[in-house]
Parts: sequence; C-alpha cells; structure tokens
Amino acid sequence: LDNGLADTPPMGWNSWNQFYCNGGNGLTAAALMNVADEIVEKGLQEVGYEYVVLDDCFQNGRDANGVLKVDPTRFPNGIKPVADYVHSKGLKFGIYSVPGTKTCANLYNGYTPNIGSYGHEQIDAETFAAWGVDYLKYDWCYPDGSLNLTKQQAFSKMRDELAKVDRDIVYAISEYGDSAPWTWAEPIANLWRTTGDIAPNWGSITSIIDRQAELHPYSGPGHWNDPDMLQFSNGSLTYAQNKSHLAMWSMLAAPLFLGTDVGALSDAEVALLTNKELVDIDQDPLGEQARRISNGEGLQVWTRELADGDLAVALLNTTGSSATVSTSLGALGAQDDVYVVRDVWSHSDLYNTAAAISATLPAYETAVYRLSAGMDEHLPGVVGASGSGR
Ligand code: GLA
Repeated sequence: LDNGLADTPPMGWNSWNQFYCNGGNGLTAAALMNVADEIVEKGLQEVGYEYVVLDDCFQNGRDANGVLKVDPTRFPNGIKPVADYVHSKGLKFGIYSVPGTKTCANLYNGYTPNIGSYGHEQIDAETFAAWGVDYLKYDWCYPDGSLNLTKQQAFSKMRDELAKVDRDIVYAISEYGDSAPWTWAEPIANLWRTTGDIAPNWGSITSIIDRQAELHPYSGPGHWNDPDMLQFSNGSLTYAQNKSHLAMWSMLAAPLFLGTDVGALSDAEVALLTNKELVDIDQDPLGEQARRISNGEGLQVWTRELADGDLAVALLNTTGSSATVSTSLGALGAQDDVYVVRDVWSHSDLYNTAAAISATLPAYETAVYRLSAGMDEHLPGVVGASGSGR
C-alpha cells in the first residue's frame, strides 16, 4: 500500500500467541505495559522491535454513539493510557479488528463481548486514531451473512477510512492466504498473512517456509508477505529450531512480531533476536524476499540480493540429523568472480570463494551468510591468480 509506511517489514510484539483471549493474569493493560518495558530492557527496541500490538479480546460492544467500548476488567481506563505508555517508551501501539460483525475469538474462543467493524469502519478508524493507534491488524474473521462485501471491498473500505484520519497507521490484513492475497493486496495493505495460524512446532514452521517459496515476486517496500508471528518460547521449539525460524523469517523479509512471552526469553534467545546483522538482512532497504534455489531431502538453499549489492544466503537443514548443505556462486546468480563469505551468527568473515559455499549443519540448523564481492587476503580460500582454492 502506497501510504508511505512500512518501507521495511514492521517489527514488534503481538499479544495473540502469548495470551490468546485469556483474562485473569493474561491480556490486561498492565501486561501490555509490562511488555513495553521488557522490549526496552532486553535491548529489542534498539534493533528495531517497536510495535506493541493488542490483538483480539479487548472489545465490549458499542455505546449509543456506535463507539467501541473496551472490556473494563482488562482495560479499566480504556486503551488510550496504554497507548500513551507505549509511546512514552519510544514504541508504537497496534490494535485489532475485523471487517465482519464478530471476531475469531467469538468463533473459536467463546469470548462473546467482542465485536467487529462492519458498518462502523469510519468511527472505528477515528476511534483508533484518537486512542493513538499506529498499526491495525484487520482480520477476515466471522465473515457472516451480514458481510455483503468481497474481501477486496471489505479490506479497501478500512484502508480508505484509515487514509482519512490524521494519523499514520500501518495496515496489516489477514485472510490466511486463502485467496492468494499477494496477487491483489499490494494496493490495499502494507502486509498480508500468507497462511493459516502458525503453531509452535517444527512442522508448522517448515510448512509456512514452503508456502513462501513462490511468493518472493510479490513482496517489497510498503507491501509485505506475512508468514505470521515468531514463536520462540511457546510450545516445543528447540533453540536450533528457533534460530532457523528467525533466520528464515529474516531471509523472507518477513514482519518480525514476537508472539511470545518476552520476559521468558532466555539470554541466548534474546541474543538471536538482537543479532543486528540478521535484523539488517530482514530490514534491508531493497526489500527483496529470498527465493529458494534448491530443496532436496529437507536441505534447502535460499538467497536474496541486498541493497548494497551483497548477497544473503541461507543454508537450511530442516531434518533431525546433521547434514551438509552446499551451493555455488553460479547457482546463486552471483555476478562477481570472488566473494568474502561472512557468517552472520559468529560475526566473522570465514573465507574467500570463487565457487562453492558449504556448511555441515546440526539438526534443524541454518547457516546465514552475507557475501560481499572481492577478496580478503587474510582469509583462507582463493588467493589471486594462483587460485589455491579451498
Ligand atoms: C485469527 C488470526 C490470529 C488472531 C486471532 C484472533 O485466528 O489469524 O492471528 O488474530 O484470529 O481471534
């Protein structure tokens, strides 16, 4: 969407995969403010995590003027003070609605006081702006009989209302990739989900990665494919799986939203998430989503071009045993004869190559390299004309 927003994929945290609809000690104003604190304390803000997004389950019907009311136990003072607090930390605030009359939480979680924006798009856009919302997730949930609009019409309607309010609001839509939104949503939204909901297990992560393989032509500055949130401490993912999850989302120029308890992240996980060299790949201004250039027996090679002419390369071992994954400059479409291979995990230049790139990877691991044209004589590998090779 050409609204001047989301030039690079948005980053932050979203409440859904951590709290779902849970009340009590779950989704509350205090919990959201605490997340804002944690994002700052853990150094996540410093590398670009900035949106604190309140997903479904804050609504409580409408007042006589049609203005959304808010669940008084969860948000006793409404939404604005929460957004104000988030802003006071130098972060941004996001919220959730749907084009229908009820949200998914009604359908699947039995949370009944929720309500969608159908017939109230203008007043909701104005309300969100007044609350200080900087990001709206608009989710194709409960498309009941009352919704006599196509997806394109329904999503465009809210886009148009957001354009009228005096506030920059990133517009994220979801219809789970059901009708190939990448083919029609570029003029409508800043990002669109490409799949159903992610789950915190390796099968879900790899199936979502597979789904992205054909989608690289459709993503770019202001309009991103969204493979859903980062799972980390949720569910059964191991450290290696989380590492690959993050590596691949960064290669895919994916929005990076933590869908997890930020306070529960280990130091090692925080170190992964704050790896600036990896975030720089995700946030590269060219905005090119990686494409998969090989895939056999669970071993995959992905590459994307970066704004400064470097190439990012991921060697992904999706299997449960260690394996060697290899590629070559030719396969990557590299234009120059020699490149320095830099390891994004260890922050070190490894070797010069004129041909092969290869790594032996433990189960579920991913190597991420940044390749720069030229040669460093202090590194092993090809040495000028003598070409000692590797
Ligand atoms: C859908 C979305 C989720 C979440 C829920 C909320 O399932 O895909 O990310 O927003 O709705 O009800």
